[in-house]
Amino acid sequence: MEYHVPVLLEESVAGLNIDPDGVYLDLTFGGGGHAREILKRLSEGCLIGFDQDSDTLENVPKDDRFIFVNHNFRYLRNFLRYCGFEHADGILADLGVSSHEFDEAERGFSFRFDAALDMRMNRRNRLKATDVLNTYTEESLIHLFRDYGEVENARRLVSLIVKGREEKEIARSDEFLQVIAPCVPKLKEKKYLAQVFQALRIEVNGELEALEDMLQQAEMALRPGGRLVIITYHSLEDRIVKNFLKSGNFEGKVEKDFYGRVKKSFELVNRKVIVPTEEEVDRNPRARSAKLRIAEKL
Ligand SMILES: C[S@@+](CC[C@H](N)C(=O)[O-])C[C@H]1O[C@@H](n2cnc3c(N)ncnc32)[C@H](O)[C@@H]1O
Repeated sequence: MEYHVPVLLEESVAGLNIDPDGVYLDLTFGGGGHAREILKRLSEGCLIGFDQDSDTLENVPKDDRFIFVNHNFRYLRNFLRYCGFEHADGILADLGVSSHEFDEAERGFSFRFDAALDMRMNRRNRLKATDVLNTYTEESLIHLFRDYGEVENARRLVSLIVKGREEKEIARSDEFLQVIAPCVPKLKEKKYLAQVFQALRIEVNGELEALEDMLQQAEMALRPGGRLVIITYHSLEDRIVKNFLKSGNFEGKVEKDFYGRVKKSFELVNRKVIVPTEEEVDRNPRARSAKLRIAEKL
């Protein structure tokens, strides 16, 4: 099975405005679809690919211009320096999980398979989804499902989880689905479960904190004129990216300097967010929720 079908491939790589001799970062290497396309456009330049999931090692191309970093992208500046560079000419991030992670039953990301509820992209980390479900307080679970999953009946969902875990620790996805079955809306089952699983995944992988750290590091690492290209898949991450590009902070609060000029580090290249064509969504349904934002460092 294919590791991952790259989303918005042409549009995102074109957005990097590649200098064939420049230094580029692909922060979410995955199956290497975007990375291979960037390499095609480089001559003497170099590409540093990041992925915290060691399964991606099998996709690393044999190419002297490519360096692979098997770590979280939130530390990108340290690794950039470690590779001998102070600045990058372009940075691309295609957030979320790959099809490989999602489709491998044992990784526990999907409600379609019965498996241990793991959900770690980086299996060197300790926190698994089972730890979240069995050890977090009722209040923190309610916040988590509300904030990260936008689950409407979070209180009811969590009361079932708490009752279920008192009887027996929740270890596998089938057990979990049984415990929460009474609060799953019959007509919107898939959408509801996707929200619940998304919330757990975001917590296990600290996805929103990593995204915020990454954006701040990217702002410092990019040289003026360098491009930041980001593909998001849900409104929580898209809001963070949009606010940051507009205002340099995550609340989207526009600040002005002494002379009344808006303080910002990026200029948007595309005023309107770019989404996949119908043709791409037909070919690859997982592209459906993708949103691409491109900005230039001032
Ligand atoms: C949507 S996939 C990227 C697919 C890739 N663009 C391709 O063409 O195959 C996202 C990848 O980013 C990785 N990832 C997500 N968050 C990360 C983080 N904070 N640090 C490093 N890798 C991360 C995941 O493990 C996954 O492999």
